[in-house]
Amino acid sequence: MKVIKSIKEMQAFVLHHKKQGKSIGLVPTMGYLHEGHLALAEQARKDNDLVIMSIFVNPLQFGPKEDLSTYPRDFNRDHSLAEGKNVDVIFYPAAGEMYPQHPSILMNVNDRTDVLCGESRPGHFDGVALVVSKLFNIAQPDRAYFGRKDAQQIAVIDLMVADYNFPVEIISVDTIREENGLAMSSRNVHLTASEREQAPVLYQSLANARTLISEGEKDSERIIAFIRGEIAEKTDGEIDYIEIYSYPELKTLVELEGRFIIALAVKFSKARLIDNIIITNE
Ligand code: PAJ
Repeated sequence: MKVIKSIKEMQAFVLHHKKQGKSIGLVPTMGYLHEGHLALAEQARKDNDLVIMSIFVNPLQFGPKEDLSTYPRDFNRDHSLAEGKNVDVIFYPAAGEMYPQHPSILMNVNDRTDVLCGESRPGHFDGVALVVSKLFNIAQPDRAYFGRKDAQQIAVIDLMVADYNFPVEIISVDTIREENGLAMSSRNVHLTASEREQAPVLYQSLANARTLISEGEKDSERIIAFIRGEIAEKTDGEIDYIEIYSYPELKTLVELEGRFIIALAVKFSKARLIDNIIITNE
């Protein structure tokens, strides 16, 4: 497995392989890899001749009061995990390589970002769109892989690809969970021991909501109240949001019909966790 830190070198490498007709799969990450990231790499390995994983903690997508400085990092560990999944190249640029100066042309995502993490993390998806567009230009992938744990991120990237005509296919991969249901996240390492025991309640409450809906509940306010009750009763977390919208449009729903997302964000002492389920109700 190769590690490439320079954009020029990455582009030259890609060009060389493209000339040989090889297909390229890109797995963008911020590192501190877990089974969720590795599931994306596995899917990319199945679909492409060449798999590039990027590891870059993108400062532009963190707000001033967010966890950029404490975001977990361990390149050696990531290196061996990626190698274990037969990733061909890790693209691992320094911040100064990606942003020699603050970008002169910014992205402003105007749709699908007035709710959920777009609302509680202003500017977050602008930073995501900007870095992902750079990564697309650097790795020139045929396919790029994103996890449904960040369902709003996929909804935004889909818009960006359509609006800016990126010649890339976006492939989404199901959320990978621990046995107790907790969605894998790099930020889980910041949970205290007791928060770790509480955190599976996030998914359990979503799963119970799914059961209520399958039994005929169609009122989104009642579902939200149910989840709010579960999390308030069984965890010390502070609820950031619990919301239901059509998916991927992220518009308000009167009745729980069609395809929709139930998404939540909960702040524990040192980690803000998100999770969601997407339901199709005919
Ligand atoms: P990061 O949080 O490192 O996640 C990288 C990719 O892994 C994302 O597509 C995310 O949705 C996916 N992922 C994370 N946890 C997952 C899980 N439990 N199951 C399945 N997939 C999971 O998302 C980002 O980085 C950044 O915003 C990035 C796209 C790299 C741009 O900086």
